[in-house]
Amino acid sequence: MGRFDGKVAFITGAARGQGRNHAIRLAEEGADIIAVDICKQIDTIPYALSRPEDLEETVALIEKLGRRVVAVEADVLDAAAMVAAVKQGVDELGRIDIVLANAGVAPHSVDELDAVQVFMDTIAINLGGVRNAVAAAAPYMIAQGDGGAIVITSSTQGLSGAGGTGTGATDGYVASKHGVVGLMRSWANWLAPHMIRVNTVHPTGVMTKMIDNESMGAFVAQSPHLADAMANLMPVPVVDIEDITNAVLYLVSDDGRYVTGVTLPVDAGFGVK
Ligand SMILES: NC(=O)c1ccc[n+]([C@@H]2O[C@H](COP(=O)([O-])OP(=O)(O)OC[C@H]3O[C@@H](n4cnc5c(N)ncnc54)[C@H](O)[C@@H]3O)[C@@H](O)[C@H]2O)c1
Repeated sequence: MGRFDGKVAFITGAARGQGRNHAIRLAEEGADIIAVDICKQIDTIPYALSRPEDLEETVALIEKLGRRVVAVEADVLDAAAMVAAVKQGVDELGRIDIVLANAGVAPHSVDELDAVQVFMDTIAINLGGVRNAVAAAAPYMIAQGDGGAIVITSSTQGLSGAGGTGTGATDGYVASKHGVVGLMRSWANWLAPHMIRVNTVHPTGVMTKMIDNESMGAFVAQSPHLADAMANLMPVPVVDIEDITNAVLYLVSDDGRYVTGVTLPVDAGFGVK
């Protein structure tokens, strides 16, 4: 018996990184997965986003566990594509119980050419994309009448402005990650009568391709104060993907059945510095 037997989870940004790991761990515990990722590049993002092979690898890993998966290459900015992906998933897998609005970008760069566009794109993807994913799924969850759980991946930068540099990327990232807290609080009110819970998780640095790339490396190197500003209280530079997955699985499982409207940091003490 798995904690998620018979459940279906819709996950954005599932081709790699945290999203892939959440998908695999949910599948290991019995869930079927609707996996969405963009699988192509966006002009203002200075590091490689996922490729089709990444999403294919996620699919293979889930199927190896004996679970079913519906994988869709789609941009979270495309509201109609989110609706279509959820519909396809529910048509094929029968239901939807869990939403992980995890897709996001962090386009930090030393040679930001268009700060306004970077800011707008970051807000659109990290905030608007979360809106589109949840708006696509919630009507099905309400109609189903069995409750459910939604987790939005925010950041320590969704609770703090430490390390702000006045660039389009840091402003957009911090504003968008704070913004999803507002969405979460509003949706927790909207969905509680349906026994659907909504929470945010706030990771400190996690060694994924979002921060483990040349652009981010150069950005941090040019502003030595950032290393101090972004340091955790506990003496660990980053946490593991598994640490975030453990928190997410707690929030979407029955262990967290009366937890809604909370901002859960997984931050090695960053937030109380
Ligand atoms: N890595 C960190 O240090 C860190 C810290 C705090 C929060 N986060 C957040 O965690 C989440 C997951 O990031 P990650 O660390 O796994 O990085 P990642 O870059 O490996 O994964 C993000 C995924 O989102 C996808 N994506 C980006 N834009 C998209 C779009 N418009 N439509 C669909 N998919 C899109 C990417 O292709 C990628 O597969 C993000 O929301 C990120 O902001 C990351």
